[in-house]
Formats: sequence, structure tokens, C-alpha cells
Amino acid sequence: MKEIKAAMLGLGSVNKNLLRIITDKKEVLARDYGISFKVVVIADSSGYARLDAGFDMLALVSHKDNGGRVADLAEFVGTSFDMSGLDVIFESTPVDHKTGGEALKHCREALGKGISVVLANKGPVVHALLELKALAAKNKAGLGYSATVCGGLPIINIGERDMIAGKISKLSGVFNGTSNFVFDALKNGGSFDDAIREAQAVGAAEADPSLDTGGWDTAFKLLIIANSIMGADIKLADIEVEGIENITAEMLIAEQSVGNTVKLVAKAEDGKYSVKPMVIAEDSFLGSCNGWEMGVEIHSDLYGIMYHKLYEKEPIPTAASMMRDAVNIFQI
Ligand SMILES: NC(=O)c1ccc[n+]([C@@H]2O[C@H](COP(=O)([O-])OP(=O)(O)OC[C@H]3O[C@@H](n4cnc5c(N)ncnc54)[C@H](OP(=O)(O)O)[C@@H]3O)[C@@H](O)[C@H]2O)c1
Repeated sequence: MKEIKAAMLGLGSVNKNLLRIITDKKEVLARDYGISFKVVVIADSSGYARLDAGFDMLALVSHKDNGGRVADLAEFVGTSFDMSGLDVIFESTPVDHKTGGEALKHCREALGKGISVVLANKGPVVHALLELKALAAKNKAGLGYSATVCGGLPIINIGERDMIAGKISKLSGVFNGTSNFVFDALKNGGSFDDAIREAQAVGAAEADPSLDTGGWDTAFKLLIIANSIMGADIKLADIEVEGIENITAEMLIAEQSVGNTVKLVAKAEDGKYSVKPMVIAEDSFLGSCNGWEMGVEIHSDLYGIMYHKLYEKEPIPTAASMMRDAVNIFQI
């Protein structure tokens, strides 16, 4: 049995679900993968706490659900992150889309010390995926980021594991549940702002929802996909990005009356990358990704045309993907 000493950075929707999952699945993880997790460092926006004996994970979830902060705990140590003795960092803090932020600094430091990193936060991989991969390989650490792309939809895993020697010729997807949900709410007579508030209430919209509606969340995912499974090395500036702010209920209803729908679509083809609202047939694969569904269509030389779709309303599949990444890194 391998005991994995973990830090949980961020104690919001994703990491609270991760804490619940690794508690609920404790026996399966031990029996089938020879792994147990001990959470010794935690952080929220108030700072860090450390307990080498391991925190009671469900007590942490209740503490946060009841409005508590890490700074309220007896184990609070302040605002500096002591990585000593850690095996893995679960990074689920808000995205810093401009620089990758503190999270990127933590990834560099951890991987440099041979500590594995599993991310839901896209910031570090958007800004430095190839650098972080090289650092992880050099220091024999693991780097898991499957949860950064459409939560539980295993696009990265399919590309890396299941398409050996294949080449993706084109790829398109509906990657942003929040935008999708906003379109549906508008069609049903709801307001743009109400739909965003509801998406935030269930923990699906970004802390800054303009990342969703401006197309940036989708662009981040497209960039991560391109740079990890399409052999590209692109930057955000290489993606043409247009958000959904100008889409109205009238436009959506008019398209619906002729069998069409509007989706925020990510596309990669012939070295060109774009994210924009597009009119597509309602009965097409991407046209049928409604509400909280996300989907990807992958065309390749060896593996045909694949269609993968996920319904994820709350980030349980996202958190499960982080657990999966960690198990893939540590299983014996
Ligand atoms: N939710 C999803 O469906 C989903 C899916 C895939 C990826 N993601 C990504 O996963 C990450 C987390 O999402 P979430 O929904 O869990 O967000 P969330 O509910 O807003 O939680 C964010 C957590 O990060 C903490 N935090 C903020 N600044 C921090 C800092 N400087 N240091 C340490 N902790 C800090 C917050 O502290 P307080 O508790 O004190 O506010 C909160 O606990 C985001 O990057 C998001 O893009 C989310």
C-alpha cells in the first residue's frame, strides 16, 4: 500500500468533491490500486494549513460548506506554502488567464522538486504546458491535467492513450457548459444574467463568468488539446476568439424555426484555430450538445471519426478525473 501525501490548493466546488470522492472510494483505491491519500496541506484564499497526521477530509468539506476559512483552523500556518514531504499537489484555484499566476509558480517549484502535480486549474497548462511536461520528465514527477479539458470528458487521455501513431486531422467541440446553458436559458425566456447566476450557483461557471461568455474558457481548452494531442505549440494569440455576448433570444429562436441551433464551437483544422458562436444543424452531433453537455468530434487518419459527449452539471466528474490522474501517476 502506498500512502500519498497530498496538498489541496483551493477548497471550492472541485476540491471539495475530490475530498468526498477519495473518502468514499477509499476501499476501492486501496484494494484495486494499492493507494491511499493523506491530505496534509490545504489552502483557500485565506492561506495554508498543515497537519502531518492528515486532515479529516469530510470535516474539511463541512467546514468550508459552513462558510469556514482555512485561517480559522488551529493548523493555520499563514500564507507561505511549505511543500516538504509532499507527493502530489491537487491544484484547483481560480484561473489566472493572464500569466498562470501563483499556480504556475507552484507547479514549477513542485515539479522541480520531483513532486507530482494534478490540475483542474487551466492557467499553468495554458501558459506553460510543454515546459511543465519537460520539467516533470526531468525530475521524474507526474503531471496530470485531464480535468482541465471539459472536466470528466477524457479527451486528453483518448488522444494520448487510445490513438497510438494516429494523427488528428481536424477536431471540433462544444466545450463550455455555461455558454451552452445560457443559450438554452435565453431560448426559454430567461435573461443572460439569470442564466449566469444559476451556472455560478451550481459551481459550473468560472469565478469570472466573462471567461465563459467571452469564449476564453473554450479557447484555453482548445489550446491545451492542440498542444497535448495534436502536436502543436500554439499560444492563445494563435486562436481567433469571439464570445457569445451578442447572441440574442431572437436569433436563437429564428434559427431553431429552420432546424438550426447556435453553439460556441472550438475548431482546429489545417493549423488554424478558432472559437466562435456558429449556426449548425440541430440534429448534428455538436448541435445536440445541450445544456450541461460538452462534446468533441475527432477526425483522424487511423481511428476514424470519433464522437464523445459528457453530461456534467456539478464538477463531480472533474474531481474524479483528478483522482484518476493521481491514480495513473502513483499506481503500483
Ligand atoms: N467547477 C468546474 O466545473 C470546473 C471544471 C473544470 C475545471 N475547473 C477549474 O478548477 C478550478 C477550481 O474551480 P472551482 O469550481 O472549484 O472554483 P471555486 O469553487 O471558486 O473554488 C476556488 C477555491 O480556490 C480558493 N482560492 C482562491 N484564491 C486562492 C489562492 N490564492 N490560494 C489558494 N486558494 C485560493 C478559493 O478560496 P475561498 O474558499 O476562500 O474562496 C476556493 O476555495 C478553476 O481553475 C476552474 O477553472 C472547474
